[in-house]
This record gives sequence, structure tokens and C-alpha cells, in this order.
Amino acid sequence: MALAVKGLEGVVAAETRLSFIDGEAGILEFVGIPIGELATHSTFEETVFLLWNVRLPSKAELSAFVSQVRANYEPPADLVKLIQAMPKDAQPMHVMRTLISALGLYDPQPNKIDSPALREKALKALACAPTILAYFDRHRRGLPMVHPDKNLGIAENFLYMLNGQRPTPTMARALDVCLILHADHGLNNSTFTARVIASTQSDIYSALTGATGSLRGPLHGGANEGVMVMLNEIPSVDAAEKHVLEKLAKKDKIMGFGHRIYKSYDPRATHLKVLAKQLAKDTGNEGLYEKSHRIEQVMENAVAAKGIYPNVDFYSATTYHCIGLKLDLFTPMFVAGRIAGWSAHIIEQLADNRLFRPDADYVGPHGVEYTPLEKR
Ligand code: ACO
Repeated sequence: MALAVKGLEGVVAAETRLSFIDGEAGILEFVGIPIGELATHSTFEETVFLLWNVRLPSKAELSAFVSQVRANYEPPADLVKLIQAMPKDAQPMHVMRTLISALGLYDPQPNKIDSPALREKALKALACAPTILAYFDRHRRGLPMVHPDKNLGIAENFLYMLNGQRPTPTMARALDVCLILHADHGLNNSTFTARVIASTQSDIYSALTGATGSLRGPLHGGANEGVMVMLNEIPSVDAAEKHVLEKLAKKDKIMGFGHRIYKSYDPRATHLKVLAKQLAKDTGNEGLYEKSHRIEQVMENAVAAKGIYPNVDFYSATTYHCIGLKLDLFTPMFVAGRIAGWSAHIIEQLADNRLFRPDADYVGPHGVEYTPLEKR
């Protein structure tokens, strides 16, 4: 029997037409389009269309898709009551996971998995996930909910619902770019989770819920919150070097660095670094950016030779902070973007499905005698 591959490193478990990654060269493409092109020219809505249809939309198609998204901003009325019943001290990622699952309760045909049904359900989840997050955040702050504005795009509308006032175009665009950069990323842990669940022909809500649980982990999407915790722990730019070197000496991981696939600079981090620098300047958070930059310099000297560079989560932390998001909304924001990719992968998986069922290398004993309870 073949030996186990720990962490499935290097194992190719699916074919995909959605995103391409060259980890040595630092390349990421969605349906063949370099991520930098999308971050510069596209919108999140257009990127979602690209991933769900494996091509760019025409003007008319994009306009129709945007209208469909906006028509789905409001969650089912009974789900809104559930949000209002959530404990105010609940962690937003647990709220997101619970309420993405709860979307299935208000779907008359939650188990339908033909392609049109999957697209309809994915659209609802994608469109109302930011609303769920904004409603919960206002609920826990004891503020009235701000209903979605269908004249606004996903990013701008989210910040409007969260803060009760329209964001500046710069802030809205910054969040839009973050959503694009987070939309998909090959067979990462949460996407693999979604595909594994979908492969049993279970429903899309189960697959998205499982994926959300996977993303929360600090080794995956939860790292963006870990980065902010670290930035808060380091009192000044000058203290960054000592802090990082002490952690490395203890073999602690520095959050926001390293990647299973990238052994060079994560191209998403390239964009987020530029965004973080500009937003930090605009919002008087230069100190935070400088601290991040100093950590990067220390890490470069210490571990870049091992192929450890900033990943998507590192400069996301400064970016989200400057946009005005509280620390515990960082990972749920990642969910709001990655629902695009998870859904695309679920649709792709079910279009040519085979049940995921790997084998395990059993390393325990054999033929063990059963000892009756009274003799143990
Ligand atoms: N800080 C310090 N050392 C690191 C880091 C890091 N962030 N990441 C990897 N290393 C070191 C390890 O200590 C190990 O060193 P060794 O060979 O001397 O023992 C070596 O690099 C390989 O590390 P692994 O953990 O085995 O690499 P793996 O591919 O399994 O892990 C992972 C990738 C989980 C992302 C890892 O780099 C990590 O824990 N990073 C911090 C958490 C993080 O930022 N996660 C977000 C990833 S992006 C995303 O999921 C959205």
C-alpha cells in the first residue's frame, strides 16, 4: 500500500478551470486572467460572474447579474429574527457558520443540486452573507439594522449597512479589491472541504458551512485576525524585530507568513501591501503599516531563504483595520469573498462528480483480544 502523504502535500485531487497558481513564480490567475489585472480593472461582482461562468460577462450580462445579486441582499425574514436572537458576545465566525447553515432552513428545496439550482442558492448565499455580518455587528452593538441599499455594489453596501453611512469611494473600492483578491485560490483547505462535502451529493449549505468552519482556523483564513493580534502586541516599530526573532527562536509561527503552495511572494499580498500603505496614509495609520513593513523586513532576513513570504492574510490585517473593520470581522469578510470560489468549485465538482474517499495507512495493532469490561 502507498505511504500516507501528510497534509496531502503535492497530491493533485481535482481538475479545475477556475484558478491557476504557480507557487514558485508567484502567479495566480482566475480563468487565465492574472489576479493583478482583476484587482486593477474588475469588480467583485464581475469576478464572481467570471468564476461561476468560466468567462467574462458582456455588458448586458454583467448588468443583469448585478441586479440579481442586489435583489438577494436581504436575508429571509425568519433568518433575520435568528440574527436578533444571537448572543451579543458570540464570535462573528461562529455566527457566520451557523447562519450560512441556517439559510438551508428557509429554502423550500434545499437539497437540489442541479446546476441552475446550485447557482440560485449560491447567489442567495453570496448576496446576503455581508448583510448577515452587518446585521449581527449592529445587533451586538445595540444598534438598529441598516437595510441594504440596492443601488450600491456588494462592498459599498456592506460598509453602508455596517456604519449607517455611505463609505468614501476609496474605502468602497478598497474593500471591493479585497473581495476580488479573496474570491478563489485553487484547492485550498476550505475549498477542498467544500468539494469533499459536495462530492457526497449533499446540499450546498452543508458544503458552504463546512468550508466556513475550515476557513476559521488560524493556519488558514483565521490568520488575518492573528496578524492583527500580533500587531497589537508589538508596542512600536522598533520593538518588532525583537518580538519576531523571539517567536522564531521558540519555533512559533508568525501569522500571515508562509504558504503550502507559494514559495515566493504571494501575488495577492503584493496588491494588499500597496493598498495597506495607501489606506494607512489616508487614515493616519502609518504606524501600523510601518510595523507590518518592519516585520516583513525581519522575516525576509530570517526565513525568506526557506521560501517563507507574506501571504494574503498579512497585509489584509492593516487594510481591514484602515477600512474600519473590527478585528473579529476580518475572517468573516474573507468568507464573504470566498463564497464566490467555494460555490464555483461546488458547481464544478458536481458537473463531473466522483466521491472523494481517500485511504488511510493503518499503523495500529491487529488481532487484539477483546477484554471484557469487568476485567479492565
Ligand atoms: N512563521 C515561521 N516559520 C514558518 C512559518 C511562519 N509563518 N510558516 C512556515 N514556517 C516554517 C516551519 O516552522 C517549518 O520550518 P522547519 O522546516 O524548520 O520545521 C517550515 O517553514 C515548513 O512549515 P510547515 O508548517 O510544515 O509548512 P506547511 O506547508 O505545512 O504550512 C502554513 C503552511 C500552514 C500556511 C504555514 O506557513 C503557517 O502556519 N503559516 C502561518 C499561518 C498563516 O499565515 N496561514 C495563512 C495561510 S494563507 C491562507 O490560508 C488564506
